[in-house]
Amino acid sequence: MRLKDKVILITGSYTGIGKAIAKSCVREGAKVILNGLDDQAGEQLYAELGPENSAMLTIDITEEDAAEKLVDLAVERFSKLDALVNNAATIVSSNIRTTSSDFLRKVLDINLVSGLALIEKSLDQLIENKGNVLNIGSINAWGGEPDLLAYSISKGGLMTMTRNLGDSLFREYGVRVNQINPGWVLTDNEMQIKAAQGMKSDWYRDLPDIFAPAKRLFAPEEIAAGAVFLLSDECGPVSAQVMDLEQFPMIGRNLPKSWEGSHK
Ligand SMILES: NC(=O)c1ccc[n+]([C@@H]2O[C@H](COP(=O)([O-])OP(=O)(O)OC[C@H]3O[C@@H](n4cnc5c(N)ncnc54)[C@H](O)[C@@H]3O)[C@@H](O)[C@H]2O)c1
Repeated sequence: MRLKDKVILITGSYTGIGKAIAKSCVREGAKVILNGLDDQAGEQLYAELGPENSAMLTIDITEEDAAEKLVDLAVERFSKLDALVNNAATIVSSNIRTTSSDFLRKVLDINLVSGLALIEKSLDQLIENKGNVLNIGSINAWGGEPDLLAYSISKGGLMTMTRNLGDSLFREYGVRVNQINPGWVLTDNEMQIKAAQGMKSDWYRDLPDIFAPAKRLFAPEEIAAGAVFLLSDECGPVSAQVMDLEQFPMIGRNLPKSWEGSHK
């Protein structure tokens, strides 16, 4: 068991990647604090994991006292907090024409500002337990797509936050901070988004090579496997690192043969 008796708070863990991380953590011996917005989805996962392994709090992480309430729940229920996974995010499309200042502020508030507040509120516990933080970013942190402008900016900021705090908190307190940047992951939410966009039901079986050399997307469990490694003691003093879990290099990419010459 790689996370035996660790207490781990995972935001946005009622669905998708966060849910897969929660299940993998429990499988590795951890207790998890579940969080999200959809109470029904939370109750389902809570029932599956059991009260001996989990606690849940349905709260919007942008609420003033959300971070405090979540950390307090971990301490009340399991007496400590060893790790925080900032996973909750709003995954929204917007471009230069549609990203108003208010919209950008809202996206940053959920995807970036709340994560910082959660780290700050968790810090005393993390210091006491030599704990760590894992931020779930996105491959879009490296620049992103035209129609993911606000989202990409938020994930770029998160990546700098990881590198900054991963250095300062580790040097000063021994608290590691790392990030996983997932590539394209096939989650239930992703299926719903594509259905709403009118795409055929098996769109994920017919992916262009440029996005998916493996001809498939990542499974949430594959991201969770990376999360368990970074959360566990087995990764030693790794801190301030950003792990891209993608099928191709974001820098120095070999384009598929069919693209050769097209840029010359
Ligand atoms: N699915 C992908 O292809 C992909 C790729 C790269 C990165 N990611 C990242 O992975 C993480 C998880 O996303 P996912 O794909 O599992 O999608 P998801 O929509 O299933 O998960 C996001 C969760 O966060 C919750 N959430 C959103 N706003 C919240 C708020 N204000 N307060 C509390 N909870 C809130 C949602 O209710 C949901 O449960 C996100 O950080 C996302 O940016 C996903």
